[in-house]
Formats: sequence, structure tokens, C-alpha cells
Amino acid sequence: MASSPQSFILLFTTLLFLQTLTEATTCSDCFIHSRAAYYPNSDEQGTDRGACGFGSFGATINGGDVSAASNLYRDGVGCGACYQVRCTNSNFCADKGVTVVITDQGSSDNTDFILSSRAFGQMAQTKDAAASLLSLGVVDIEYRRVSCSYPNKNITIKIDENSNYPYYLGFVIWYQQGKRDITAVQLCETQNFVCKLLDRSYGAVWTTTSPPSGSLSLRMLFSGEDGDETWLVPVNNIPHDWKAGETYDTGLQVNE
Ligand SMILES: *[C@@H]1O[C@H](CO)[C@@H](O)[C@H](O)[C@H]1NC(C)=O
Repeated sequence: MASSPQSFILLFTTLLFLQTLTEATTCSDCFIHSRAAYYPNSDEQGTDRGACGFGSFGATINGGDVSAASNLYRDGVGCGACYQVRCTNSNFCADKGVTVVITDQGSSDNTDFILSSRAFGQMAQTKDAAASLLSLGVVDIEYRRVSCSYPNKNITIKIDENSNYPYYLGFVIWYQQGKRDITAVQLCETQNFVCKLLDRSYGAVWTTTSPPSGSLSLRMLFSGEDGDETWLVPVNNIPHDWKAGETYDTGLQVNE
């Protein structure tokens, strides 16, 4: 009886059902319940002192809809990731919520997010509701990872002010769309193909001492939640005479 075709079919359907259940509980589009606060003394905008190292760019990125993350900071891997965050109080909160980009690390009173006050208010249905939300200080929310959106922008490299050939090169990566993380970065000489793996010094800041010379081809490893890992090589090289403080358009943008 145990080995009859019927019991195999039963076993098979049970397994299928269990698999569907597992997928449902780990689905990447599902909202996760948590709490959010806001930067009390932020001037509506983001922050230029965020732990991600975005600098002054961090104050204006995504129109000022930014957030500090606690666990989602992920030792800096989470920097630049976007989340749809919506509060759950139906009296005040809009269904759409707000899309924020992670620029800082921080937590307060069991929160996953500390939003800019601008972003916090954006979760409300109206201006009055926003005032009520802000007076609550900390609210229940639900969130999910979404693609960032930077219309008419390619992934761009901002060279660290302290960079100084041939001793040190550091940069931050701006405007990455999609839902994947950049988990490794290489610079390759375009002349003889010597490549050097960079260090994540902190946040979104990638650095190396003794950078390779000449014009440099950038390689970024994109890692998806599903375990997929892909190296992407932008069309544009970093010019041989790169300068501290300059930005360079990679000519590449991603949507997944
Ligand atoms: C993005 O890169 C492409 C080349 O890959 C280029 O044609 C386009 O002008 C760039 N966009 C911007 C806004 O710089």
C-alpha cells in the first residue's frame, strides 16, 4: 500500500503544497511589519553625515526621501537600497507610503527605519495627517525592497576628496537602480588587464591603496536575493587622469 502510485501522487502533491507555502513566506515582494521613527532635527531633507558615506549627496538624493537603517544597513551592503515604507494607521496613512533610500545607520525604540522628517510626512494622506503622524514620533509600518528610481541617471562614480594617485583611490557609487546589492568591486587596467579587488572601507565607500594605473575599467558584482551573482562592466572607463572630487558617468544603469 505504501508504494502504490496513489500514495506517490499524494506525497508529490503534499510536497508541492509545502513548497508553495515556503515560497509564500519568503516572497521578496511581501511587506514585512516593523516600526519607523524620524530624525527629529532634520531640516526636512536627508543627511550629509550618513554612515553610508554619500556626503552632501546624501542630503538631496531621492528628493530627500532617505532613511537610516538598523539591521537592513547590513554592514554597509544595504547602503543605496530602496524600500517602500508605509505606515499602517488607516486614519492617517496613504496606501502607497513612501520610497526611501538607505543613507545612514541607526535605530531607535525597535525601529528598522529612521526616516527623514520629509519622508515620514510623505506616508500620510494629507498635510494635516502628516502633522498628526509626526506628533506620534514612532509608528507601525510595513516595508518591502523596491527598485530605486533615478530618471535619466546612469550609475555614477564620485571620487573621494582624499584620493591621490598613486597612493590612494576611494569612491562612492551613486544612482544604482534595481533590487540587487553591489557586493564586490574591481578596477582593471585597460592596457594589461591587471585587476585589483577594492575594499568596502565603510558604507558605500570603496577604496584601495596603490590603485592600478592608466584608464581603468570598473567591474561591479551584483548579488540578488535569489543568490544570483553577476559581474557587470560599464561601457565607460574611469579616465587615466581621474581627479579627487570628480564624478564619472559609467554609462551603465540597471533595472533588476
Ligand atoms: C547613460 O549612458 C548611455 C550610454 O550607455 C548614454 O548614451 C547616456 O547619455 C547616459 N545618460 C546620461 C543621463 O548621462
